[in-house]
Amino acid sequence: MEKQKKLYLGTNTKMYKTIAQTQKFLTRLREETEDISREKLELFVIPSYTALYHARQCVQPHEIRLGAQNMGWEDTGQFSGEISPLMIRETGADLVMIGHSERRHVLLETDEMERKKVACALRHNLTPLLCVGETEEEKRLGLSDERLRTQLKAGLYGLAPEEAAKLWIAYEPVWAIGVGGTPASKEYAEEKHGVIRRCVEELFGKETGRKIPLLYGGSVHGENAPELIQRENIDGLFIGRAAWQAESFASIIRTVLPLWIRR
Ligand code: 13P
Repeated sequence: MEKQKKLYLGTNTKMYKTIAQTQKFLTRLREETEDISREKLELFVIPSYTALYHARQCVQPHEIRLGAQNMGWEDTGQFSGEISPLMIRETGADLVMIGHSERRHVLLETDEMERKKVACALRHNLTPLLCVGETEEEKRLGLSDERLRTQLKAGLYGLAPEEAAKLWIAYEPVWAIGVGGTPASKEYAEEKHGVIRRCVEELFGKETGRKIPLLYGGSVHGENAPELIQRENIDGLFIGRAAWQAESFASIIRTVLPLWIRR
């Protein structure tokens, strides 16, 4: 299979870092990674909404791309508490995470809501990072592939191949994420990335489907990152806890980037 042009490595800081902590983290991460060429690396950070504008002031887009953790699906309107794509663009961010497991399972977002958000992000030239993943129960019942296909077919419904070509997708099994999560093995992650790859090829054609970056997330750390990144359908890693210290994140980047280049 034709290789992606870049390795995608990023972190979602969830509801942890304040503005000051985000700025400190980004400044440190920039320093720690400034000698690493971005030719083959797409490095991104997804901080909290309140930190986005300030985050943009301390790093350049070509050094670290910034994204929002969620987005409303209308430009303006009576949606108290929501943040519109116009507001996200105003901060300087150009990426938006959609349908993270915590949004789906804690805040009860549906596939239809994610579909509206993906379409809205694309209309505003924001790159959508759609997250999909099965629960522990679905895995136990042998429903993982069906769940992934449903999330993809519903969440990406109606997109033209040219639009789909701008998407990023993260496979984040719910049982693998966060404190108490068990990371997926490299074999399991690759198998599910294969299911996702075939589904997007089916929906948008082989050429487009092949180009959509597929990132794995869920208890990635310094020890399992190297073996995950060497799998054919894994184009990047979407990391939580293990990347929240700039030094640890930089160390993962330095380990996996050469492995991926040689893959
Ligand atoms: P952890 O790496 O902490 O499991 O979190 C992953 C995640 O949710 C990234 O979005």
